Amino acid sequence: MSTNITFHAGSVSAEERPTLLSQKGVTIWFTGLSASGKSTIACALEQHLLHLHKFTYRLDGDNIRFGLNKDLGFDEKSRNENIRRIGEVSKLFADACCITLTAFISPYRADRAVARELHEKAGLAFVEVFVDAPLSVVEQRDPKGLYKKARAGEIKDFTGISAPYEAPESPEIHIKTDECDVTEAVRRITAYLSEKSFI
Ligand code: PPS
Repeated sequence: MSTNITFHAGSVSAEERPTLLSQKGVTIWFTGLSASGKSTIACALEQHLLHLHKFTYRLDGDNIRFGLNKDLGFDEKSRNENIRRIGEVSKLFADACCITLTAFISPYRADRAVARELHEKAGLAFVEVFVDAPLSVVEQRDPKGLYKKARAGEIKDFTGISAPYEAPESPEIHIKTDECDVTEAVRRITAYLSEKSFI
């Protein structure tokens, strides 16, 4: 626990920064089962926004677990901590006026609510995107063979099989990836960002 610490505000205010950089920060929070399409859509969106010369960066579950969160597993407490850290990191990126794309299963509603609150308290926008595909579909896709292993009992606490996934109740954007391809998903999110004047 940190004690005797003091927050240092910079010389550029939170209102001034987006004006100086001509870009507002926002976190686009993708949530969904493994193999639902979070990373695929986030990658395509990142590429699209970078080609529009927008300051954009993607934080992805598997990748972050190679570094910052390499000490965490998949039990409930570890997932809580994983999402707590990503909530904090994405808030910093958004504060730096970045269009921040986070692609984590983030299975618990309460953890996603904490990440949202953190952003909103800082006056930063948080856009939840539910990347939705039925378990039967993601299990059939199974690109990494993880569902097969989970069914065989070789992976414990596997989301959708032996660990819970709490679907969002009112996400800003709901994408059903068994009905909508990547191009259409990117088009829908881009249209939302444009409508809200983020791009
Ligand atoms: S979480 O729930 O948000 O903390 O998970 P996340 O950081 O997004 O990591 C999910 C990726 O880790 C791999 N993996 C598992 N997923 C779910 N449950 C278990 N037990 C598990 N073990 C490893 C898997 O590749 C996930 O990647 P995606 O891209 O979601 O398929």
